[in-house]
Amino acid sequence: MTNTTSYTSDSFVVEGGNPLRGTVRISGAKNASLPILFATILTEETCTIEDVPDLIDIKNACELLRLLGAEGERAEGRVVIHPSGIKSYETPSHIVRRMRASILSMSPLLGRLRKAKVALPGGCSIGQRPIDQHLKFFSHAGAQVSVKDGFVYLEIEKKRPVEFRFDLITVTGTENALIYLSSVEGRSVLRNIALEPEVMDLAEVLKKMGANIEIEGRTAIIEGTEELRGFQHRVIPDRIEAGTFMVASLLTGGEVLLENVNLNHMGAVLKVLEEIGGRVESLGPDRVKVVRKGAFSPAEVITAEYPGFPTDMQAQVMVLLAITEGRSVIYESIFENRFQHVKELNKMGAKIEVRGRSAFIEGVDKLTGAEVFSTDLRASASLVLAGLIAEGTTVIRDIYHLDRGYERLEEKLKALGASVERLPVLVS
Ligand code: EPU
Repeated sequence: MTNTTSYTSDSFVVEGGNPLRGTVRISGAKNASLPILFATILTEETCTIEDVPDLIDIKNACELLRLLGAEGERAEGRVVIHPSGIKSYETPSHIVRRMRASILSMSPLLGRLRKAKVALPGGCSIGQRPIDQHLKFFSHAGAQVSVKDGFVYLEIEKKRPVEFRFDLITVTGTENALIYLSSVEGRSVLRNIALEPEVMDLAEVLKKMGANIEIEGRTAIIEGTEELRGFQHRVIPDRIEAGTFMVASLLTGGEVLLENVNLNHMGAVLKVLEEIGGRVESLGPDRVKVVRKGAFSPAEVITAEYPGFPTDMQAQVMVLLAITEGRSVIYESIFENRFQHVKELNKMGAKIEVRGRSAFIEGVDKLTGAEVFSTDLRASASLVLAGLIAEGTTVIRDIYHLDRGYERLEEKLKALGASVERLPVLVS
C-alpha cells in the first residue's frame, strides 16, 4: 500500500468477506432536507423539520442559514429554524464551494428580500452542471439577473406570477422555481418539471406554508402568497441510502432488514435489483428485506429522471454487475462524467470499459482489495460496497464525500457485521 500522496480527509479500511445480517434504519433524505431547509427563509415563523440526517451538507446548509441571520437548534434529527432575523441576501463562495446545493438559497432570498447575491457554483467531478435553467426561470419571472466576478446577482421590483417551461428536467431548478413562486401572489404554471420524491416532499412543505400547489404530469400550478407560515414536517426516507443497503445485502449474500423505507419511491431500483437476482420482501409499510434469489443475471441499466432509474444508484449497481457472469451495460443519461468509480473498480479486478456515456461490464469471479480514491459521493459508496466483497483489504481514500451524504455509514455497516474502520486523515 503506497502512502506517498497526501489525503485531505479520512480513509476507510474495509476487510471483505462478511455477509451483512441484521436491521438498519434508513435516515431521512439528504436531498429532501436541503431544499426544505432553504425554504424556511421564506417565512418569519419557526419551522421544525424532523428526521434530518446528520451530514456535512446539512451542517453547511444550517451554517448558511445562520450567516443569513436565522437562528436554530438541532437535537436528535430535529432541526428547528427561527428565520425571522434573516436580513442578509448574500451567500458567500466558501459555502457554495463546500455545498453546491446552496444555489437553492437564490429563490427564497429573492422571494423574501427581493434580492440575492449567490456565489456561482463551478462544474464538479460528475459534470459541468450549469445553472442556465435556474437563471432563465428567474429572468422569465421578471428578475434582473447578472453574473459578475463569480456571483449571480438577482433583483426584482415587483413579483408577479409566471408561466415557464424548463428546456430540460432539473431537480434543483424545479425546486428553486417552486420555492420562489410559492411567495408570489397569483397563479403560476411550471412545465416539464422534475418529479423526484424529494421535489414532491418540498411541495408538501410549501403547501404547509400556505402555497397552493397542484401537480399533474410534469406540470405544476402554483398559487403563492406573501404571507407564508412556519411548518412542522418529517422528511421522507433516503431512497438512495436504502438502495445502497439493498445492494450491500445482495452483494454479500446476507439478509438485511431495512426500516424507514418508502418502496413507492423505489420502483425502478427494485425492478433492476429483481432483474439481477434479488428478492424484495415487503414486511410492512416501511420495512423491507432484500435477499439473493440465486445466481445473478447480467442487465442493461439506463439512468433517467424519476420515475426512471436514479443516476445516484448507478455506481452502486455497477458493483453488483461487476461480479455477475456475462456482459452488462449501464448507460448514464443524466451526468456526462459520472463513471469515475470505473477506474477504481478496475483496480480491484473489475473489467469495465467506458465508451462515451456507456459502461460495458464483463463480469468477473471476484474483486480484490486495493487502495482506491473517492471522487464523488455515490462513487465512494460503490467503492465501500466493492470492499465488502473483495478478497483482502480495501483502503478508500478521501471519504469526505461519503460524510457529505451517508449518515454514520461505518457504524451502520459494522452493526450489520461488516469490517470497516475509519483512518483519520494522514498528513504528509
Ligand atoms: N442541467 C443543465 N442546466 C441547468 C440544470 C441542470 O444543463 O440549469 C443539467 C445538469 O448538468 C445535468 C442534468 O441537467 O446533466 C440534471 O441535473 P439536475 O439539475 O437535475 O441535478 P441537480 O439538481 O444539480 C440533484 C441532486 C443530485 C442528483 C441529481 C439528479 C440535490 C441537492 N442534488 O442535482 O444528487 O444526482 O439531482 O437526480 O438534490 C447526490 O446526492 O449525490 C447528487 C449528486
